[in-house]
Amino acid sequence: MKSNNDSKFSYEYSGLDQKETHEQFNRLGEEHERICSAWNTGYDSVYASINLSNDRQLAQNVKNLAAQKLSYNPEMVIVIGIGGSSLGTRAVHEAINGTLYNEISKRPRLYFVESIDSDYTTIVLKLAEQVLHAGKTIIVTIVTKSGTTTETIVNGALFVDLLQKFYGDSHTKYVVAITDLNSKLYHAARKAGYDVLEIPENVGGRFSVLSAVGLFPLALVGIDIDKLIDGARSVGELVCSQPIEHNDSARNAVIKYVHYVRDRININDMFIFSLNWAALGHWYRQLMGESIGKMHDRTGKVVERGITPTVSIGTIDLHSVGQLYLGGPRDKFITFVYAQERTSLVEPQLELFSSLVPHVAGKTLSHIKRAIFDGVIKAYSDQQRPFVVCEIAQSDEYEIGKFLQMYMFEMIYLGYLLQVNPFDQPQVELYKTETRKILAT
Ligand code: PA5
Repeated sequence: MKSNNDSKFSYEYSGLDQKETHEQFNRLGEEHERICSAWNTGYDSVYASINLSNDRQLAQNVKNLAAQKLSYNPEMVIVIGIGGSSLGTRAVHEAINGTLYNEISKRPRLYFVESIDSDYTTIVLKLAEQVLHAGKTIIVTIVTKSGTTTETIVNGALFVDLLQKFYGDSHTKYVVAITDLNSKLYHAARKAGYDVLEIPENVGGRFSVLSAVGLFPLALVGIDIDKLIDGARSVGELVCSQPIEHNDSARNAVIKYVHYVRDRININDMFIFSLNWAALGHWYRQLMGESIGKMHDRTGKVVERGITPTVSIGTIDLHSVGQLYLGGPRDKFITFVYAQERTSLVEPQLELFSSLVPHVAGKTLSHIKRAIFDGVIKAYSDQQRPFVVCEIAQSDEYEIGKFLQMYMFEMIYLGYLLQVNPFDQPQVELYKTETRKILAT
């Protein structure tokens, strides 16, 4: 992730020697060439998602529609989607705007409706109703690539119904559908008169955060989507212009692969030292879980392969899973993520408290957190538990765009090393089919 004096990875404690790493870099050679010949060539190949950051027209279309919807002065934006159709959006939003955004923002408040959950959705509907009763507007964004995901369609109908009750026929201008060209939702939305943004066919859900899926709602809440995609594009440019040895995506994939085959480490934890970055961990969890957790390998053989992704949050989870990670089985590989904070709250000098925990009064919270982080790194290295460190120079759009793109490349490399298709999710469909059958009875 290196460029200028910004975010960087440290591999000192990754647990691999140079020979092992180079063997796997060699194995990746052909796949790397395929990826780079797809770079900047549009959306025809299976690697389509890597070109989202090259698509200036996409960003422009998104900005135009966002500007139009913002001209209605919405008080609230509701994003209805699940999995790859919401995790990335939430992740970028929270990392930049913060998890308490709705409490402090002057921009439209943002709510995600993902699950089927009557208790939760009732409250969001009530909040939306209050906004409408007060004579203000809401924007409802229905995001589903397939256009037929049960959760999203059920939730979408609830909010469209609410809008219809208030606005009658003119409700359509407050609804945006984001879906595949020609999906059932695409045709239904066009017929109803909603604005529609398309997802390129070869861009899969969990690789779609830099498509309209993420960009449109993010633009509504003030995220600089140009900076986000600039950051992502800088990673693509590095990947395809530098030797693979300088490629953090390939190196991280190799490290995880070698631990999996050599040491049977099949738990991958992203241990993030930032509350606002927690959702980025959940985005990555889905990216890894669905991309490489596969029943079949590329030849169709049953292999039941995969690495279980987990997310831990620092410093909270030092007090929950820290003991297990440092004392329990050596079945985990950890990526510690440290994102620099934007504020510098200072611990006050209060005698009573200073006597309870020495050496903290007068220090910034960032300083104290860094001391805890460095303590964790020291303990893990002393215990010879394998890990890498990812230091994020700042929580801004550019760095987050890099983070997203770097891990999407990683997952493509890892899929190749594990000889599974990172772009499909056939077993997710199993429950969808069964659910439809049950609902039909
Ligand atoms: O990554 C994926 O492909 C999935 O997680 C999908 O995003 C998820 O199942 C939602 O599907 P859809 O966008 O079709 O509603």
